[in-house]
Amino acid sequence: MIYADYNGSAPLCDDVREYLVKRINEGPYSNQNAIHSLGKKMMFGMEKCRRTLAKHLNCQTHQIIFNSGASEGIAQIFFSLLDERPSEKNIIITSGIEHSAVVQCCQRYQNKGYQIEYINTLDNGVIDLQHYQELIKKFSNQIALITSMAANNETGVIQPYQEIGKIAQENKVPFFCDTTQFIGKTEFNFDQSNIDYAVCSSHKIGALIGAGFIIAKDPTRLKPLILGGGQEKGLRGGTQNYIGIETMAVAMESFYNNKEKLNQVNESRLAFEQKIKEKFPEVAIMGDGAPRLATTTMIAYPGIHGQAVQIELESQNIFVTTSSACSDNKPETSRVLKAMKINDDIGRGVIRISFCLNANQELYDKIEDALTNAYNKLKKIQSY
Ligand SMILES: Cc1ncc(COP(=O)(O)O)c(C=O)c1O
Repeated sequence: MIYADYNGSAPLCDDVREYLVKRINEGPYSNQNAIHSLGKKMMFGMEKCRRTLAKHLNCQTHQIIFNSGASEGIAQIFFSLLDERPSEKNIIITSGIEHSAVVQCCQRYQNKGYQIEYINTLDNGVIDLQHYQELIKKFSNQIALITSMAANNETGVIQPYQEIGKIAQENKVPFFCDTTQFIGKTEFNFDQSNIDYAVCSSHKIGALIGAGFIIAKDPTRLKPLILGGGQEKGLRGGTQNYIGIETMAVAMESFYNNKEKLNQVNESRLAFEQKIKEKFPEVAIMGDGAPRLATTTMIAYPGIHGQAVQIELESQNIFVTTSSACSDNKPETSRVLKAMKINDDIGRGVIRISFCLNANQELYDKIEDALTNAYNKLKKIQSY
């Protein structure tokens, strides 16, 4: 079996699996906020995890606020920075390639009276910095929030977040960067990122699902979304998911211990893309030529339905995804690909292959064989 949907949810990484087997058998289990000695031991363990994460991501421990994952973090950041009713600062600047967790938050605040302005996307999937600067100039002191991602979940295209953040800083506007597909997949240095708020989800990095965190440059600007017993310095109520948090620290440590593998992972992906393009010159790679995550490739054969390819690959025990939003069997080009001006012929045909540091030439060679067979078979019966 080849599982190639790590951007959707990554399986537990080997170090996490090993850690968990021991952890579950040996304990301890307790409420880390209790004042008995077991509770204190648990709290010490959790704070050690915070230190591990802060060390690798180059931030201060007090800047990390644990929660249940990126969607919660995103909702809390919007909730904290935007008022229930917009004042003279009533503009949210975002991009057309954000994840639905950000899109839906923007829509919620649009319904409350905020105006949303979208940064254009270039055809290669990178947001248009020139257009961003024009928006900043046009709306200057009306902007309440800038929200733009670090790496796209569909295409893997890496965005110029440091430049976005620098301009946001110069204009004294808070910058939230959705780093869900970036942290733990490539190197990230919060201190040098020019980002005010970043987020992470445990299950994207090979840890147990159900944990995550916000990194906030100035946590005092955050307001709790979930009220409770004062956990996370009053910023996130509810007993922390300590085992999830421990596995996040193990997964992050594992990534940083093995990060030199990223080069080989990138080369394997590029070699795979090259071989497929040589066999099928009509094939399109989304974000080809743009900086991309080493671990992600999104590929389409024009006119061949992505779901058909996905099913063919699944019959060979290879699990990939498409990006198309499908309703009533009417496949549509995704919002992200539309922002890149990808036509439907290609947009309906995409499949996404995503790994972590486990990706190697052998895995890609197997996918290449299966994809070659799928394309050769399906191009005889082009779907649309
Ligand atoms: C870019 C991005 N942001 C946010 C999320 C939301 O993450 P979660 O579902 O773990 O809360 C995802 C998940 O796919 C994502 O890819």
